[in-house]
Amino acid sequence: MITARSTPNIALIKYWGNRHDEFRLCANENLAMTLDGPHVDVSIELAETLSVTSANKEMTEKDTVRFQKTLNLIEVYLATIAPTEVSNLTITIDSQIPPSIGLASSAAVFSALAKAVSGLVDADLTDEQISVMARLGSGSAARSIFGGYGAVRNEENLFIDGSKGWQVADEHHWNLHDIIIVPSTEEKKVGSSEGHPKAWTSPDFAKRVEDINNHRQQECIDALLAKDFEKLQAVVEEDCMEMHHCMQTQDPPLNYLSDETYRILDEVKSMRKADHLPVLYTMDAGPTVHLFCTDEAKERITEYAHAQESCKVFEASVGQGAYLV
Ligand code: PMV
Repeated sequence: MITARSTPNIALIKYWGNRHDEFRLCANENLAMTLDGPHVDVSIELAETLSVTSANKEMTEKDTVRFQKTLNLIEVYLATIAPTEVSNLTITIDSQIPPSIGLASSAAVFSALAKAVSGLVDADLTDEQISVMARLGSGSAARSIFGGYGAVRNEENLFIDGSKGWQVADEHHWNLHDIIIVPSTEEKKVGSSEGHPKAWTSPDFAKRVEDINNHRQQECIDALLAKDFEKLQAVVEEDCMEMHHCMQTQDPPLNYLSDETYRILDEVKSMRKADHLPVLYTMDAGPTVHLFCTDEAKERITEYAHAQESCKVFEASVGQGAYLV
């Protein structure tokens, strides 16, 4: 049995929409911070047929189909490197991610699965190759293979490995914190896997893709490498709000943000203006607000988060990425 452990990551430049739906080739380049917790363990063993069980969640038929599709695609990809049969496995998932914390577990699960699969392959796969396998299950999972700050870059072709993960900087580069405020524990109605294929129906999506691929991703990388929080804040918030605008204007529209989200954003903006706090906000496919901050602002932001009535709070910092245990 092979076990790998991984964690979620939170995007600074969001992945939204595909160039190729089946291969999950990202329309735009993207970038995230890998968190230091909570983690997921995925154990695999060769078997006669595929079975997926989770210690913490009832697996639906839809879940199993997603694993089957992912493993079939991984096999197609591996055929180009070191042919390996991986479509029939016993997969056991043990997740420490609290349900309803608003942290997508798919990035952690599929990055751990890809890392575990790399242990079955008779070749030394690079992290870049493992990130391709992770991406076939969940686009954002490609980034959790890496510690620190992981990104996805695009090649012009539409091959199965046409979007690849890479590490912008490791976990020792900049110790940022993600203070997560969860206003709602309602299960979301439309997940990102169903939303991505509709992204091109937003009239503003093509321009978004162009802007990120032409300059925004690079601006974010530059801000990260220079540890320039002000620049990081500007580019991350612009990108997040633009992604939500595209989601809201696609067909059918997706509205993930709630009144509570907007209230928290307004308060954070006032607070940082008054106190000159290095804090930025970003949201994924849900009302959960991620407040990224430096050591300097951590205490103040954590205190603010815990003062929010009927919200759950979760704290994480930059993490080391997926590894075999
Ligand atoms: O990897 P997926 O299919 O869960 O898509 C992730 C989508 C967002 O969370 C909204 C953005 C991102 O880059 O993580």
